[in-house]
Amino acid sequence: MDPVTRLGVVGCGLMGSGIAEVAARGGLDVRVAEATPDALEAGRRRLTASLDRGVRRGKLSEEQRDECLARLSFTYDLGDLADRQFVIEAVAENRDIKTGVLQSLDKVLEDPAAILATNTSSFPVIDLAVATERPAQVIGMHFFNPVPVQQLVEVIPALTTSQDTVQRTRDLAAQLGKQAIQAPDRSGFVVNALLVPYLLSAVRMVESGAARPDDIDQGMELGCAHPMGPLHLLDLIGLDTAQAVAESMYEEFKEPLYAPPALLRRMVAAGHLGRKSGRGFFTYTG
Ligand code: 3HC
Repeated sequence: MDPVTRLGVVGCGLMGSGIAEVAARGGLDVRVAEATPDALEAGRRRLTASLDRGVRRGKLSEEQRDECLARLSFTYDLGDLADRQFVIEAVAENRDIKTGVLQSLDKVLEDPAAILATNTSSFPVIDLAVATERPAQVIGMHFFNPVPVQQLVEVIPALTTSQDTVQRTRDLAAQLGKQAIQAPDRSGFVVNALLVPYLLSAVRMVESGAARPDDIDQGMELGCAHPMGPLHLLDLIGLDTAQAVAESMYEEFKEPLYAPPALLRRMVAAGHLGRKSGRGFFTYTG
């Protein structure tokens, strides 16, 4: 099969804008869909700022940045994705929203062989696949934050996903310069199944007063050479996303270690979502 040249990305938040960026940098024609003008403008700004940062860091020339921008188009209308060969949804980690987006895309895509990938962090891919009329062409494609930096993509076939779809998704990951691993269709897949209990344990340490956020993070950075401690990482991921992932994993396994601690819930309720809101376990300016 020919390589994918026309990619759609739905959602231009932290993950969607990163996916669109690496795809444009990989030479693909990328069309990005968002639900509201404000969200689209914020996403476009984030994406442009990231490309500008790449220029400042000497990772791409001004000419290459401009070529990337020329390969990107934006829309509010999912109907504008009709000619896409492959669409990645990266909307909020909410089962109903993701299901609705995939069902709409399923109707809109002209090519019956086009693939629908979900960047869900935790929902079983099979539930999303069977909500469409093309369950053999629905697959999980889980990217990591920040997308331009993290090398990994988890490729998650559902029970219904065809081998062709798996291969095409692996090929696309390679086109984007990513390294794919195959992960099981269990909530949390491979990485979050290991990462989330660790992050939640750090929240419980703060909640119980056992240790201070700075000490916890320095412990893991200096003691275990992690690039950032668990609480800074939660702030980067977004506490609302982390809560949604933990809830989904708890729903699947009923293991107490996946249950979101009360402190996490309270912080989300207060709007302390991490970097994106300027405040989480730490505060951020600019
Ligand atoms: N976009 C593009 N490049 C970025 C970037 C971004 N948003 N953030 C950082 N970078 C690049 C910088 O340009 C720099 O590149 P260079 O060294 O080649 O010039 C490099 O990354 C290092 O950046 P900084 O010097 O600014 O900062 P740090 O050294 O502190 O690194 C970090 C920042 C890359 C975020 C690093 O701390 C890190 O890797 N942290 C761990 C992130 C992680 O674990 N992510 C996975 C989260 S889990 C997830 O996403 C799954 C979901 O389902 C929950």
